[in-house]
Amino acid sequence: MDAASDALKIGDMSDFKFLKGSEDWWRQAVVYQIYPRSFADSNGDGIGDIRGIISRADYLKSLGIDAVWLSPHYPSALADGGYDVDDYRNVDPRLGTLEDFDEMIEQLHRRDIRVIVDIVPNHSGSNHVWFQEALRSPKGSPARDRYIFRDGKGENCEIRPSELVSHFGPTAWTRITEPDGTPGQWYMHLFAPEQPDFNWDNPEVREDFLKTIRFWSDRGVDGYRIDVAHALTKNLANGHLPERTGYDLSLVKHDGSDDLFDRDEVHEIYASWRKVYNEYDPPRVAVAEAWVHANRRARYASTEGLGQSFAFDLLGTPWNKKRFHSTIDYQLKAAAENGSSTTWVFSNHDVIRHATRFGLPESALSNLPAWYRSADREKQINVELGFDRARAATMLVLALPGSTYLYQGEELGMQEPLNIPSEQMQDPQWFRSEGSISRDGCRVPMPWTSTGSSFGFGPGGAHLPQPAWFKDVNVEVQDKDGKSTLNLYRNALRIRRDLLCAEEIKWVKHPLAADVLHFKRPNGWQCVTNFGTKPFKLPKGQILLATKDVVDGKLPANATAWIK
Ligand code: NOJ
Ligand code: CA
Repeated sequence: MDAASDALKIGDMSDFKFLKGSEDWWRQAVVYQIYPRSFADSNGDGIGDIRGIISRADYLKSLGIDAVWLSPHYPSALADGGYDVDDYRNVDPRLGTLEDFDEMIEQLHRRDIRVIVDIVPNHSGSNHVWFQEALRSPKGSPARDRYIFRDGKGENCEIRPSELVSHFGPTAWTRITEPDGTPGQWYMHLFAPEQPDFNWDNPEVREDFLKTIRFWSDRGVDGYRIDVAHALTKNLANGHLPERTGYDLSLVKHDGSDDLFDRDEVHEIYASWRKVYNEYDPPRVAVAEAWVHANRRARYASTEGLGQSFAFDLLGTPWNKKRFHSTIDYQLKAAAENGSSTTWVFSNHDVIRHATRFGLPESALSNLPAWYRSADREKQINVELGFDRARAATMLVLALPGSTYLYQGEELGMQEPLNIPSEQMQDPQWFRSEGSISRDGCRVPMPWTSTGSSFGFGPGGAHLPQPAWFKDVNVEVQDKDGKSTLNLYRNALRIRRDLLCAEEIKWVKHPLAADVLHFKRPNGWQCVTNFGTKPFKLPKGQILLATKDVVDGKLPANATAWIK
């Protein structure tokens, strides 16, 4: 590694394959996740849309990101925030048209920002033409075979086919009414009833998804995020039906033979997608959302498969140096073994924002639903601590090899908006788990301005209520403040772009400062994070960035600095 570093000149990356325009652009990309319905609303109907994204293209450019990832933009009944797709090759009319989509691609590409879209292959929405056709068609018909229909048990088939539980709570089976009005078969849905699971043994299903990825690739989409990538193939042959109560990764077999998840043959599907991705120039990229044992993740990230797979480990990691150290070490090694690059992520549309998580006591973090339900949940948050740690944590991963996924609003250091009245909640998980936890907080529409209707989200209201404190936490305020989190992110991404180098790190040990995590990149770029409580004397060098003021050469607790 040191020999490589000698050869490297900062600012001269001509030898590196991840340069803009190359096929390896994704390896160390910063990807900004947009939840389209909550980003920017162009027409005042309270729902963010594609023209809203276009109107913020310069803002996206100002961040210095390499790509955006859009959560589903397809027609949907919104039973699960768009992850119930009714038409995979169209745009939700509330979000715009295909022409708007094309213009968005053009506007973002013009600004050197690539576009990743969500593919939801485990299930469709229940208004999908295929599911509607299946409901109209008789038992045993080809139309039913595209989904997972089974007879119920009991004399009148009134007992559900198995005890399988959905990820959102209660059963994973729903009974239909047959076209003649009689109670009929049952269909499987690992998520909400409005999300019937596809039968991936059916060749038509396979063909249709190839058509979908070609459709969007032809329109210029650069990459894909694959929803529940581990669940597509299931062991349902010869009348076998899995009996499982709830999703618990520790119960999933990790030898590829589990009935429901992470089965070996799922990779045949991704190999066929890879062939299509590679027909394009540059090849399209993909990242798997695969909740699998860490040692099985590499299969999804292989070059014959999707190429990258989310490392979600930091989503649950408390503010603890040892835990960060071991997680990072493991991820880097695992990615290197199969030629992939790792992904870092702290926040997305499914989890409590990390500025809030890092302000919680560890006991709350280890059981977020219990914390979420507790009457004093807000009192348990140390807002300042969460804010400091979130900034420090993000700057830490931005210095690591691999790509980083940022979630809209985190660049404002935003806390989780928590006081959404239950009658305004939208998340099916909230309803189906009896108010256990809701993902609506992290989906509250973006605040752009201090005043005005919906804090600049759009000319009308917002589809989820925004908290009053958005008057202080918004793009307008932070844009003007050189020390804001927004400008910290912008600076970091600008500096990072110049410093990117070979995907290696070397840990630097500090035996007398057990809570300090310190590593060097081959070109001398160093990152120091202070997980402890006392200030830490920084090594010599130019301080490029610090998440808290460095006083007398010392990095305060809960802070990260970059040095060169
Ligand atoms: C994962 C998505 O991130 C989540 O939002 C969704 O509810 C499930 N997959 C089901 O599609
Ligand atoms: Ca709108």
